Amino acid sequence: MEKKDLNWSEIGFAYHVTNMRYVSNYKNGAWDEGGLTADANIVLNECAGILQYCQEVFEGLKAYTTVNGDIVTFRPDLNAERMMDSAKRMEMPPFPKERFLDAVEQVVKANADWVPPYGSGASLYIRPYMFASSPVIGVKPAEEYQFRTFCTPVGPYFKGGAKPLTLCVSDFDRAAPHGTGHIKAGLNYAMSLHAHVEAHKRGFDENMFLDPGTRTYVEETGGANFLFVTKDNEIVTPKSDSILPSITRRSMLHVAEHYLGMKVTQRQVRLDEIGDFAECGLCGTAAVISPVGRVVDHGREICFPSGMDHMGPVIQKLYDTLTGIQLGTVDAPEGWIHKIC
Ligand code: PLP
Ligand code: COI
Repeated sequence: MEKKDLNWSEIGFAYHVTNMRYVSNYKNGAWDEGGLTADANIVLNECAGILQYCQEVFEGLKAYTTVNGDIVTFRPDLNAERMMDSAKRMEMPPFPKERFLDAVEQVVKANADWVPPYGSGASLYIRPYMFASSPVIGVKPAEEYQFRTFCTPVGPYFKGGAKPLTLCVSDFDRAAPHGTGHIKAGLNYAMSLHAHVEAHKRGFDENMFLDPGTRTYVEETGGANFLFVTKDNEIVTPKSDSILPSITRRSMLHVAEHYLGMKVTQRQVRLDEIGDFAECGLCGTAAVISPVGRVVDHGREICFPSGMDHMGPVIQKLYDTLTGIQLGTVDAPEGWIHKIC
């Protein structure tokens, strides 16, 4: 199989139309058999539930080429489970876990020529999603749904790769107390777009969102969770009911504890204490682990001792170990790596 002729190290985080995607439809209370299609376009009724009331959930995971030349995915079972949780919260019929895993596998195999080679720094981003496809005009869940999975090769999410980011504390919230911040629904991202554009206009890379109830505690950014490193080399990560339970963060905490022998704590993190930390990073499938050098809170600057030139030493170790596990150069915990071909 010949790989696509792309400049893999320069592709950035962008959409490419790849060979095949997977589709299954839900009608009369059941999912159909589903299968691959070459058609990247969707035709919908003008009144489809997704278009009127945003009934949609999605996932994001990656396929990698390992050092041995295998194509693998990383903990896809957790994405399948999280998507089922998201669907339930949105009154949508969950797409069964085994079928989710099969869809991911079929899509990756059918697009193997788009999986970036080992050592390129790029990977294949896989986007499973489902949405209300039948018409609804009164506010209620739709009767019919479509599940799809497509993929696209991607490089680093943030321009500049591993260069430390500057964040601003947002005046907007991405989630509501008792809302949908803990699930992966497109509506949360629509909520964050205005804050995102405003932050970029002011020269910041991302927003730091605070807890929507009291605006006292650190939550997350629009697309990643926070990890902090204390001056005593311990990991601290925010606990909140309104942030997305990141699979990368859960994996990093395991790596920190079991591979690096570090103490890890999940607790509420006050905005006014972050100046005490030695390092800060953003973690997620797209972000991997991206270092944060500075946070600006309305004129007050919090600069982490790790500085603006490179990743701090602990974030670097976490990054090296996790990416080593994903690329097959570090032994993985049982069940984390799913070989596709
Ligand atoms: N938080 C938000 C809001 C996200 O969109 C993502 C991306 O999926 C994450 C955190 C990181 O989650 P994960 O590590 O499962 O990709
Ligand atoms: C991911 O990391 O998979 C996400 O969905 C985040 C998004 C900002 C690309």
